[in-house]
Amino acid sequence: MGGQQKPLDLTPYKVPTHVAIIMDGNGRWAKQRHLPRQAGHRAGAENIRRIINACVEFNIKILTIYAFSTENWGRPEREVRALMKIISRVIDQELDELHAQGVCLHHLGSMTGVDPSLQERVRRALELTKNNDRLILNVAFNYGGRAEILHAVRQILADGISPDELTEELFSSYLFTRGLPDPDLVIRTSGELRISNFLIWQAAYAEYYPTPTYWPDFGREDLYEAIVAYNQRERRFGLVPEPVS
Ligand code: IPE
Ligand code: IPE
Ligand code: MG
Repeated sequence: MGGQQKPLDLTPYKVPTHVAIIMDGNGRWAKQRHLPRQAGHRAGAENIRRIINACVEFNIKILTIYAFSTENWGRPEREVRALMKIISRVIDQELDELHAQGVCLHHLGSMTGVDPSLQERVRRALELTKNNDRLILNVAFNYGGRAEILHAVRQILADGISPDELTEELFSSYLFTRGLPDPDLVIRTSGELRISNFLIWQAAYAEYYPTPTYWPDFGREDLYEAIVAYNQRERRFGLVPEPVS
């Protein structure tokens, strides 16, 4: 890695266990530079490496990134094809390094409609990294929150779970994020103020952090700022404020 990094002190802060990111703004980043949208997606893909390194450095335990939504299939075919190619390339180029870093990959979403060679790459990546425990990296790919909930409901019905047996905890165990704690912090780049079908069950009480920065420009220091902002929030979970002692 080139360049001296500015030291960022996180000791006064509580680091969120699970950070989820809606990586948005690749297209506008490219447009700003008079480049094709695909160039924005390539820059966005490169940025994932920077943010993984920062998560390891900051001791974040779980990172979830929104890479491709069920709705994104509706984009022009050329763009969808380019995105699939970029995702394949990221796996090819980054897998060894991710494994060496102790990253455990999970896939959130479905494989329906995904090219068989990409499906195979994903399977290989999950298998290779399954015992790693430094950072869990959930990649939401071909993912939609509503589709995830429907998938869970179908499984629950198929398993013959009775209405009385069904609890929030049991329901959560049917989601792609089974076994993992809910996100504490959801970051959305590019200034949009919506959730776009991302972790709609799991993020019920997450702190939401929108930032105008486009995803390819969102770096280590921006993640640090988001953690600082998270520390200024008071998470109440529906209760009354903590009394001052
Ligand atoms: C996010 O960037 C990447 C994906 C949704 C795959 P966009 O492509 O949505 O970029 P904008 O929102 O058009 O700027
Ligand atoms: C959300 O971004 C999906 C991903 C980042 C993969 P979009 O750009 O698709 O969301 P909308 O269309 O602005 O809601
Ligand atoms: Mg977008």
